[in-house]
Amino acid sequence: MIPLIACDDIWKIYRIGDVEVQALRGLSVTIEQGEFVAIMGASGSGKSTLMNILGCLDQPTKGQYQLGGVEVGRLQPDQLAEIRNQKIGFVFQSFNLIARTSALENAQLPLFYRGLSLKKQRALASAALERVGLSGREHHTPTQLSGGQQQRVAIARALVTSPSLLLADEPTGNLDTQSSHEIMTILEGLNRDGITIILVTHEVDIAAHAAREIVIKDGQILSDRATQGRSQ
Ligand SMILES: Nc1ncnc2c1ncn2[C@@H]1O[C@H](COP(=O)(O)OP(=O)(O)OP(=O)(O)O)[C@@H](O)[C@H]1O
Ligand SMILES: [Mg+2]
Repeated sequence: MIPLIACDDIWKIYRIGDVEVQALRGLSVTIEQGEFVAIMGASGSGKSTLMNILGCLDQPTKGQYQLGGVEVGRLQPDQLAEIRNQKIGFVFQSFNLIARTSALENAQLPLFYRGLSLKKQRALASAALERVGLSGREHHTPTQLSGGQQQRVAIARALVTSPSLLLADEPTGNLDTQSSHEIMTILEGLNRDGITIILVTHEVDIAAHAAREIVIKDGQILSDRATQGRSQ
């Protein structure tokens, strides 16, 4: 079977004036559909850079990245956007919700861009909110929700288009322990339903929710192993 993700000798080099930063240095990794992977590593090791490339938000300077057998490096910006919209959901540390806008409307947004009818948008967004345990909070705005609840809205928004890949860059970074574990329980459930999840975290006990842990150091893979926490 074709792996969902196949990175071969990926380099990402940022140049700012005369300064060159090699954020990724010849990184190769394969991730199959249905995996739950945690990415760890020190600040500045290249985790977010890798996530941005995996999510087609950015392209490698050198090397090949195939997503579902398609060479991403050869795609035009509009084709990249199409892949992002069809296949990938994103969750970030800072939730990135729209202020003064209800949970339901936040979750609807990706569907609005797809041009679905308002009725269909509401039905799907409401189901996604239910999925993350937020029934009854549809009309709350971000300031009327706790941090954990705001992150659940962000997950609902990422889910509403039924992506096959969910990328989460430190989704529990701003949350207390209890909310963090609630978020991880939701991600585990989504993964059991077949969504591939790649999660960046600094915390060992958060990474233990994943089945595989990859440690990055200086833009290269330092270790790649099955975790003890959960067997699949
Ligand atoms: N847009 C950019 N322009 C220039 N340099 C960048 C850019 N983005 C990242 N870098 C540099 O690339 C390296 C890797 O950054 P990256 O954000 O991927 O690290 P990270 O592992 O996600 O760190 P953190 O744990 O702090 O989020 C760093 O040295 C950073 O300064
Ligand atoms: Mg980062």
